[in-house]
This record gives sequence, structure tokens and C-alpha cells, in this order.
Amino acid sequence: MSAPQPDRTGPDLTLGLATDTLADGKMLAGHVGEDAVLLARRGNEFFAIGATCTHYNGPLSEGLMVDDTVRCPWHHACFSLRTGEAVRAPALSPVACWKTEVRDGMVFVREKAASTPTSSHRVVSAPGGPRRIVVIGGGAAGFAAVEMLRRQRFEGDIVMLSDDDAPPVDRPNLSKDYLAGNAPEDWVPLRGDGFYSEQGIDLRLKTTVAGIDAAAREVVLADGSKIVYDRLLLATGAEPVRLPLPGMDLPHVYTLRTLGDCRNIIARAATARRAVVMGASFIGLEVAASLRARGLEVHVVAPEKRPMERVLGPQMGDFVRSLHEEHGVIFHLDDTATAIDAREVVLKSGGTISADLVVAGVGVRPRLALAEKAGLAIDRGVTVNEYLETVAPGIFAAGDIARWPDPHSEAAIRVEHWVVAQRQGQTAALNMLGGREKFDAVPFFWSQHYDVPINYVGHAETWDELAIDGEIAARDCVVRYKRNGRVLAVASIYRDADSLMAEAAIEREAVRG
Ligand SMILES: Cc1cc2nc3c(=O)[nH]c(=O)nc-3n(C[C@H](O)[C@H](O)[C@H](O)COP(=O)(O)OP(=O)(O)OC[C@H]3O[C@@H](n4cnc5c(N)ncnc54)[C@H](O)[C@@H]3O)c2cc1C
Ligand code: FES
Repeated sequence: MSAPQPDRTGPDLTLGLATDTLADGKMLAGHVGEDAVLLARRGNEFFAIGATCTHYNGPLSEGLMVDDTVRCPWHHACFSLRTGEAVRAPALSPVACWKTEVRDGMVFVREKAASTPTSSHRVVSAPGGPRRIVVIGGGAAGFAAVEMLRRQRFEGDIVMLSDDDAPPVDRPNLSKDYLAGNAPEDWVPLRGDGFYSEQGIDLRLKTTVAGIDAAAREVVLADGSKIVYDRLLLATGAEPVRLPLPGMDLPHVYTLRTLGDCRNIIARAATARRAVVMGASFIGLEVAASLRARGLEVHVVAPEKRPMERVLGPQMGDFVRSLHEEHGVIFHLDDTATAIDAREVVLKSGGTISADLVVAGVGVRPRLALAEKAGLAIDRGVTVNEYLETVAPGIFAAGDIARWPDPHSEAAIRVEHWVVAQRQGQTAALNMLGGREKFDAVPFFWSQHYDVPINYVGHAETWDELAIDGEIAARDCVVRYKRNGRVLAVASIYRDADSLMAEAAIEREAVRG
């Protein structure tokens, strides 16, 4: 994936800069030739790395330095200042790294360092470690896991099984720029076609896993064939809920999870004039925004009184509603669809809305059937410990299906966030190689509505206080969700630094215990 490169800014760092112009813990954007470069100081050490995040080109100089890493302001990826490695998703590719030299009170950026394709934080695979790792799932968690396994120089077999017909894609984009027609097709795959063969990853698409024999350490495919594993990662994700309504199987009614689903909606939108989106969830409303961008009239039907109130609270809910209304979306809240036919959607309240495109975004259900059949512990998700291992030794789970002990909310939680799934895939990869890495990342997600991004860090299912700093309507705010005076989560609009600082504060609190 890619996005337009920002302009080169700041001083020419090869010419040198007085060391005392950059205080300890500070960063500065400059350039070396045509490259945008970030110069950072930690104590008496100076680091120079590419200034542009490899996820969506976020400006790292506006991010947060934590120890010898920098976090991206947009979606909280994290890069090592020493090596440029993308140590935390959603970025997966490193940024370049330059050598620095301090002489006579000046710091100079010198030549580019050799690239670091492997991880600086390596788990040494124990003797007798795994020879074949099988990953079920070609989504966020599965892809991040296989990428990390090779980054760790795991030389054994990697088999990745996915019942999708497309290789791993940037799923969040399917309801945003790609659906809106603002992103080219080549943004969508997480890696080009050559990646899997170059990395020796046996990616098998359109391959359904029918069962797991945990005792024999075998995966059973739908065609009856079997694959032996030493370690197994279950990353089967979630599937859209299909409402039991008359008309749900009509050809103009869609759900959205895969690239194929998205292409079908785009094809239909080319001739459709009026769309009904069922559900005012994040995905439903992102779809509404994207269909507006394609010029369709859009109606949103949802049972709640305010969109997103359960997750973001009433004030943000009202804002989201008015934002969509400003863009022409027509809401039918406190209402549901009871039937769909070829021309219209029938509402519980008695009315009808004519529609030639219907998208149901009414939530997802984790795909737990394999885990259940294999006898794994299930509690509204696959139960895993802090190392993301299930009750069956050698079987790990990550992503939308995993319920893990979250040290921050001090509860076992399951979330449906892209970045969490990727980071869990990365942690599971390290642990499948014999590491003992606790999964303790603070949950993070983002959502995009027109030009308004909403970032959310932490996890608050309920709160007893909601504190607003700034002005939501002015698109400049931080909303803190607290219980017993403690901040559990923070939502923000155009307050990226506050969002990063909130994440770091929640991390510090867990360390203090
Ligand atoms: C349109 C859309 C937009 C989103 N936008 C955002 C966003 O902006 N921010 C955010 O934080 N989150 C977003 N999400 C949620 C995010 O995409 C998910 O949380 C994330 O993809 C979960 O990753 P996963 O690896 O657990 O599952 P998935 O990415 O769903 O991958 C699951 C994989 O398992 C495969 N699979 C399942 N069962 C089997 C089987 N039996 N045999 C073989 N293969 C199987 C599937 O084919 C798929 O390849 C969005 C989701 C959607 C659908
Ligand atoms: S642009 Fe940096 S994390 Fe997304």
C-alpha cells in the first residue's frame, strides 16, 4: 500500500546542526538529498531515520518519541530509531536509516546504513524448535504472523491457509478510500504477488480448513487432505452477521468483509442510484460515506437512537450523525428493516425506502467453529493466555477470535481492531518460535468519515465519567472515558499527539501496576 509522499521539509541535515538546537527526547524533520529524514536525540545519542511512515506516509516528526522508538501520529505504528525497523504494526516495512556523527558541537547526518531486513529484537529459536508452522487465516493477524516469522529468520516451512480467493488485503481500506474510489487497486494487497514465493511462504488460497486434530497435530482440509504442524496459529477472524430477513439473499443486498465483497458493491454502485445501509456501526457509516463519494443517495437504518453511542458516548454520536447529515446521508434511527424486495426496504416503523443497493453492516461474528470442534476453551471467543496460547499446547490464536487477558482494563477482552489483530499476530509469531512475549499492547483503532479521522486508544466497555477537552463540533477534541477516576480509553479528532500520549500513559500505568 502507498499514499502520496509529503514534501521534503526542514534543513539539509548533511550540513550539520548545532547539537544544542535539539534537546534530549526531541525530534526534527529535515532532509538528506531528496529524502525526508527525521533527526532524533536521546541523551547524547542522535538518530536519523526516514521521516515518513511506511503504513500511509504519516509524518513521524509529529509523532511521539518513546525511549529509542518513534510512534506515528496517524495509526500508532512504531519504528526503532536505531534500525528503522517497524517494531509495531500497522506499519510492517522498515524506514531507511542514516549514520550520524557528532563533531565540534555539531551533529551531521552521513551515509545511509545498510538495510535491516530482519528484526533487531530476535527470539532465538530453541533447539528442537518448530520446523513447520501452519497459519489458518490470510487476514491481519495471519499475515502479520508470517511476515514476522520470516523477519525473525525462521527457516522452517510456513503454510498459510485462507478460504478467501485474494491474498491478504488492507481490509480497513475496503470501506474507506478504495470503496470511495479514491485509492488505486495497488493499495489494497498487503504485499505484492511475488512476496509469498520469495519468502518461501506456502500461501494456499481458496482453501478451507475443516478441522484440527490437536492430538495428532494435524490440520484437516475440506478436501480431506491433512497438513502436519509443529505450531499452529488460528486467525480465522470474523464474518458479517446476516440478518434473518426476507430478501437478504437478493442480488443487490451485500455484506462487506472481503475484497470480493467490496468489488461487488463497487460494481453495483456504478449503476445504482439509491443505497440503504443497514447499521450505523463504524463499517456501516464508512460505507455510507464512501457511497456518498460515489454520488449515491444514501439512507442509514439502525435501531439505536444515536450512531456509535455505545462505544463513543452521546456527544461523539451526535457529532458523527451531523457530520454524515452535512454530507447528505439520511438517517432512519430507532428503526429497523423488516424485509427487502427488489425495489425497496420495508421498515418496522411502517415506511419503505426504495433502494437498488443495500449493504448490511450490522456487526460481525467471530469464526469460532474450528476452535470449538477442536475442543479449545471458548468464552465468546477463543480463550488465550497472555502469550496468546490456547489451552492446547502449540496452538495459538490471534485477531478477532482471541479473548486475551488485557492488563490495562484488567479483564479478558476480545476486540475487532485491525492493529490489535496485526500486533497479536506478531506476538504469536515470536511465541511460536519459543519466545515468552506477553501481549500487552494498548488496544487502538481508527475510523475515517469523509475527512474526519477518529482515533481510539484503550478499552472502555462502560464508564462513569466522560470528559471532553476541546470542541467535538470543531473537530478538535479529546474525549476521555473514565471509571473511578481512571482513564480507560481516549477518543480524539485531530489531536494525534494527545492520542499518542494517552497510549503511553495507559502503558505506564500498567507497568506501575
Ligand atoms: C470493511 C472493513 C473495514 C474495517 N476498518 C477497520 C478500521 O478502520 N480500523 C480497525 O481497527 N479495524 C477495522 N476493521 C476490522 C479489522 O479489519 C479486523 O479487526 C481484522 O481484519 C481482524 O483480523 P483477523 O486476522 O482476526 O481476521 P481477518 O482479517 O478477517 O482474516 C481472517 C482470515 O481467516 C480466513 N478463514 C476463516 N476461516 C477459515 C477456514 N475455516 N479455513 C480457511 N481460512 C479461513 C479468512 O478467509 C481470512 O483470510 C475493518 C473490517 C472491515 C471488514
Ligand atoms: S500512517 Fe503511520 S501508522 Fe498509519
